[in-house]
Amino acid sequence: MINYLSAINPENIAGKTCLLRVDLNINTKTKEEMYRLDSTIPTIRFLQKLGCRIHIISHRGRPEGKDKKLSLRPFAKLLAKKVGSKVGFFPYCNPERREVQTKTQIVLFENLRFDFREEANDINFAKELAGLGDIYINDAFAVSHRENASVCAITKFLPFYGGLLLEKEIEHLERAVKTYEPPLTLILGGIKIKDKGDIIKYFKEKANTILIGGGLANTFLKARGEDVKNSIVDEVKDIKDYLLYNNILLPEDIKFHDNKILDIGPKTIQKFANIISESKTIIWSGPIGMFEKHGYEKGTKGVWQAIIKNKTAFSLVGGGETTASIKLVSDFGFRISDLRNLYISTGGGAMLDYLSGKTLPGITALNK
Ligand code: 3PG
Repeated sequence: MINYLSAINPENIAGKTCLLRVDLNINTKTKEEMYRLDSTIPTIRFLQKLGCRIHIISHRGRPEGKDKKLSLRPFAKLLAKKVGSKVGFFPYCNPERREVQTKTQIVLFENLRFDFREEANDINFAKELAGLGDIYINDAFAVSHRENASVCAITKFLPFYGGLLLEKEIEHLERAVKTYEPPLTLILGGIKIKDKGDIIKYFKEKANTILIGGGLANTFLKARGEDVKNSIVDEVKDIKDYLLYNNILLPEDIKFHDNKILDIGPKTIQKFANIISESKTIIWSGPIGMFEKHGYEKGTKGVWQAIIKNKTAFSLVGGGETTASIKLVSDFGFRISDLRNLYISTGGGAMLDYLSGKTLPGITALNK
């Protein structure tokens, strides 16, 4: 069982220095990408109120050594704006604790991955990080599928807790995977195809229908012997077996551009919408078409509209691209925040692993 921050006796942590692992792996400053940063704010506020010192650590990108472009420095200001108090920035990720001289209650440390030991789950690096706090809080569900020092090995050195966001993520994922109400519809798209096979297998019995779009659909159509021309396709292990699942639904009509499939056609949009409207649980990862290109956003938009219209279903949506596609419906007269039954996960790969029934090392570490 995870010890969550929400259940903690406040007296036990009041005034302590909390080493807070978040996921600020964000590339741009669009509203959609900022969703990850925004989601970390409740835990910061919670600790602020308890008078804790908050030492925030995160990775950003996949730098090989130090790479200025992937510095976390710009996030100190952004965080400060959100929490309404100064946020210091410390340009190292593993200083001796006594070196942290900033006077601010909140300090953001430099990109953990500037030190190669982070991704090696190095025990000494974890020990150095542990010197930065009295307790450790994992609020970085999105990186909990990585066996990294700040996610796994760190729990050997400090009392550890799950943060408010991590708790919310797990609660909603469990609702989608374990305590879901049928009919359950799984919608899969996107161009990251390889890792979707495991989800299909895991949902073979659980899902009433698995709607396939995006690059994943091209791969299925090709495996079925159709001519997909120059469309994006990838390897999916056991794809011929999945083609035999009777709950898989592939597009009936598609839209080509320059010999590439870029979207599903109107018949498929309608069919997908009908199925979504009758569902009680909806899980979605991966856009249905190349929604960034004008004229090829209709499939993705159609799925959003159907989800929004279905007010009785619980919907779980995740992945960077899918979350970014929310902008297609922000002009649609609905406020996403009004939809209490929609949960947008901050996880990409972590959510996919969870939805494939895999054990996430960062979650295992919190259960010890
Ligand atoms: C993510 O964005 O999915 C996480 O931050 C993990 O990043 P990674 O795939 O570079 O490990």
